[in-house]
Amino acid sequence: MANETPSTGPVITNSLINRFRKSIIWLYVAVVAISIPIIYFTTRYQVYAEANKELSLLVDMVASVREYVASDIRPGLLRANMFESPGISGTVAISMVANHFKEKRPDYYIKAASDNPLNPRNSPEPLETELLTKFRANRDIKGVTEAGEIKGNRFLLSSRPSVANQECMICHGDPQKAPLPVTSKYGVTSGYNYRPDSVVGTIGVGVPLTDVNTLVMQRGLVAVGVITLIFSLIFFIINTLVKKSILGPITAITEAAMLLSKGDLEHEISVKQDGSEIGELANSFELLRRSLKWAMEQAKE
Ligand code: HEC
Repeated sequence: MANETPSTGPVITNSLINRFRKSIIWLYVAVVAISIPIIYFTTRYQVYAEANKELSLLVDMVASVREYVASDIRPGLLRANMFESPGISGTVAISMVANHFKEKRPDYYIKAASDNPLNPRNSPEPLETELLTKFRANRDIKGVTEAGEIKGNRFLLSSRPSVANQECMICHGDPQKAPLPVTSKYGVTSGYNYRPDSVVGTIGVGVPLTDVNTLVMQRGLVAVGVITLIFSLIFFIINTLVKKSILGPITAITEAAMLLSKGDLEHEISVKQDGSEIGELANSFELLRRSLKWAMEQAKE
């Protein structure tokens, strides 16, 4: 074995540079694979956190309008026997506010809906019909916050049941006894005969919900782009570095070693890499060559 002189150069089947390249490519794939779910969950969290914040603001604003009507306006109007609906019913006030709000913020949602409405505009959307059924089936549900679609738009919605009490009967009871301003405006066919303590409608508030998937797609593309750019740079740098400071010198040493083994003792091994492992290897080889040369010369004499 030791005497065998290789006739051809060494066959490199798994070169160092390929190993480095493979490692970088695997690392790239891993980073991309990990980044997608991270982007998905952070985006989702962010979208819902933002929507929840806006929603609670809007819910409180709507509640405040109702409270304002109930405590500051209604008592005076009732004493004066004035049945101006928006001043008596918080629900009506909300319905009116919603109309103005819709003009300013068309992508938000405020609505008092009923399947027995005075105003046909307040007829429930499919989602509101579902909620009505739910609220009627389980009277313990005081409110629901969920994502849903209304007229093709996605919202985070907060809905609660609208429950009738004796006071509602002034306008929503017997249509023959309802105040004239109500019957003249809305007619006498729909919106009446409420039964006290029954769920008559829903009051819903919604804030627009950005489509998480679209956002994840956009962010994912940007992230993959940036990761690819960074890895291309790393790939390029490592490639150049490995070629220049590892493979080059090693090839030089290998060649010199081959020549040495064939008996060429004159080929000097010079690798300019003082202090590095490869530089040391080259120096040791050079020492070996010189000692060998010296020994051969001694032997000849
Ligand atoms: C002073 C009269 C009046 C009283 C009292 C009143 N409402 Fe109404 N309500 C109306 C009018 C008028 C509308 C229609 C508003 C519109 O045009 O959007 C309405 C609308 C509604 C709607 C939306 C669906 C629809 O009918 O158009 C609901 C739900 C509702 N009221 C529930 C109630 C409940 C519950 C009470 C009692 C807690 C109540 N209302 C008390 C006058 C009244």
